[in-house]
Amino acid sequence: MARLLIVDDEIHMRNILAANLRQDGHFVVDAAGVIDAKDALSQGEYDVIVTDHKMPDGTGIDVLKIAMEDDTTTSVIFLTAVGSIELAVESMRAGAFDFLLKPFLPEVLRATVSRAAEHTRLLRENSRLKDAMTRLEGSSEIIGISSAIKHVREEIAKVAPTNATALITGETGTGKELVARAIHKCSPRANHSFMAVNCAALSESLLESELFGHERGAFTGADRAREGLFEAAHQGTLFLDEIAELSLPAQAKLLRVLTDGQVTRLGSTRPRKVDVRVIAATHRDLWTRTREHLFREDLYYRVVVFPIAIPPLRDRKEDLPDLCEHFLRLIEKELKVPKRRLTVAALNLLSAYGFPGNVRELRNLLERACIVSEGDEILPEALPPNLQSVLLSGANLSQGARGDEWLSTVPESIDLRGFLNSVERRLLLRTLAETGGAQAEAARRLGLSRSDLGYKLAKHEIKVAAE
Ligand SMILES: Nc1ncnc2c1ncn2[C@@H]1O[C@H](COP(=O)(O)OP(=O)(O)OP(=O)(O)O)[C@@H](O)[C@H]1O
Ligand SMILES: [Mg+2]
Repeated sequence: MARLLIVDDEIHMRNILAANLRQDGHFVVDAAGVIDAKDALSQGEYDVIVTDHKMPDGTGIDVLKIAMEDDTTTSVIFLTAVGSIELAVESMRAGAFDFLLKPFLPEVLRATVSRAAEHTRLLRENSRLKDAMTRLEGSSEIIGISSAIKHVREEIAKVAPTNATALITGETGTGKELVARAIHKCSPRANHSFMAVNCAALSESLLESELFGHERGAFTGADRAREGLFEAAHQGTLFLDEIAELSLPAQAKLLRVLTDGQVTRLGSTRPRKVDVRVIAATHRDLWTRTREHLFREDLYYRVVVFPIAIPPLRDRKEDLPDLCEHFLRLIEKELKVPKRRLTVAALNLLSAYGFPGNVRELRNLLERACIVSEGDEILPEALPPNLQSVLLSGANLSQGARGDEWLSTVPESIDLRGFLNSVERRLLLRTLAETGGAQAEAARRLGLSRSDLGYKLAKHEIKVAAE
């Protein structure tokens, strides 16, 4: 059974068609012309439209266009009189499913409608599958197993199908833009554009013209009219990065777009309708900005409808192994270098580090490590000197430093377990060097049993020549 809409100005014709098609169990609604059809289409979804061509208030092509605006999967069948074959061709070009030349046999009509209904069903199934695929790809790009990242993925799935303005917060490099793109990809707007603008990167006047567009002569140098990002992102998503940096006048304009969906280009008085979903991001505390009167309170409440906070990487170290794996594969492809493996020692060193630049810093650091590593392994030595200082402070500790001075060399934020691991590795290596690789003596000096030492050496991937 399909939902059918019959459009014809002759009531007699409508009745015959409807009676015919109801025999196949279809649900049939009829419309007496283009305007009537538009009404019906705004009220319900149809699988197939059977439309006459020439009607007093328009043509079948008009009906087709109205139907396509709403849902491109609806199949439209044209009824044309013999002799108007060029109209039939025109309708096919415009995207009709088929046409029937009058007069036609009822069986032919019924068979054509069945084929059209099947066509619509397949198109819809296909687009559902595509949506699911995009959703899947979108969420799998965000790597991490920590509960914080799992939560972020869940929030993305929740907010994506809506039109709500999402506000993504997090330190630099935590993946705010990545999350914004994922929301877009999982949203019904996925097939339209995703535009991004960094509000902190442009001067006040440039930013306004970038966002809202300008008319010719709006300011010196505006020798041509230009649409802004809001118009360019029509039906899609606009990502406003560092939204806290927007000037107060720009905030007022943004509020207007968010409340009535209208933008006015600089130098114009004519508002234009836009349908844009806004996603904002900031590394600041927007509420503090609001209290300091640097951010409008009314805009604050609009923007903060759906907040997503991404914690810093140092608070979710369990994501490190997967992130490293992910980036190494990407880097190998990009730099065309052979496959590299991160040693446990290098991973330990990374775990002890605070990552002020978060995931972006991790990626850059691995890229450098891939370039400087010669073998197929990434050793701690391939990591930058500021990470090595974690090791050095461990060595100071082992030298029985007096007092707590050595503590000042430890980065402000560390992961204690990772830090202790790197100290342990350092001490093992030093002791083995001192004992010339003699494990029994090393175990004694470290106060470990032989088997404990063996276990620790294996854990740190330290290979010692057999004694
Ligand atoms: N969870 C993650 N999984 C995979 N890649 C990630 C993840 N988080 C961040 N990245 C990657 O790290 C880099 C930085 O991410 P992004 O640009 O989204 O951060 P940001 O928060 O917008 O940073 P900034 O505040 O500096 O603009 C990108 O290459 C991004 O793909
Ligand atoms: Mg960013």
